Amino acid sequence: MQHWQEDFMFGYQFLNGCNPVLIKKCKKLPENFPVTHEMVECSLERNIPLEKEMEQDNIFIVDFHLLDGISANKTDPCTMQFIAAPICLLYKNLENKIVPIAIQLSQTPGPENPIFLPSDAKYDWILAKIWARSSDFHIHQTVTHLLRTHLLTEVFAIAMYRQLPAVHPIFKAASIVKGCGHTGLIAAVTECVTSGITRSVNAGINPV
Ligand SMILES: [Fe+2]
Repeated sequence: MQHWQEDFMFGYQFLNGCNPVLIKKCKKLPENFPVTHEMVECSLERNIPLEKEMEQDNIFIVDFHLLDGISANKTDPCTMQFIAAPICLLYKNLENKIVPIAIQLSQTPGPENPIFLPSDAKYDWILAKIWARSSDFHIHQTVTHLLRTHLLTEVFAIAMYRQLPAVHPIFKAASIVKGCGHTGLIAAVTECVTSGITRSVNAGINPV
């Protein structure tokens, strides 16, 4: 906890946190994320251009584009709610640590959507990282966790429960999977319909 404001911890969580499935190697910047070498030069440690860093597999990207266009204020209309769809650029430094070097908080570049850098004012940069972490939470909870584990498993669990004879070895082993499906149903209700944990972080996300 004592390192939560530090850049290495922000990068560490994309590899070792609860949602280590979004980070990708970046060989070419997306057109809607106009980061230049000059902008990130002070973060690069090898004295080579950003393009060369990409060629040498030292640049990574996390793009939360799935959140673009999701309307906020759905789960609790009485509370002001906001949602971002950031893009983060990360760098593998000489200590082999992944650190953020640029964060854009929504998908369309422009004067209203600046690219935040570690050289910005301390709390601007921390807030940009907090928004990105919040977006990671939304994707983790609704896609990685609920959709790709519980809801996907639930289909197989119900099919096995209904179709396999009770003496089938897989039917007997499926009691564990059945538990997952049941939990999925509970999660779907609590997280999406009654907006339990999602509401607790002030997000507005449509039910899956
Ligand atoms: Fe779960």
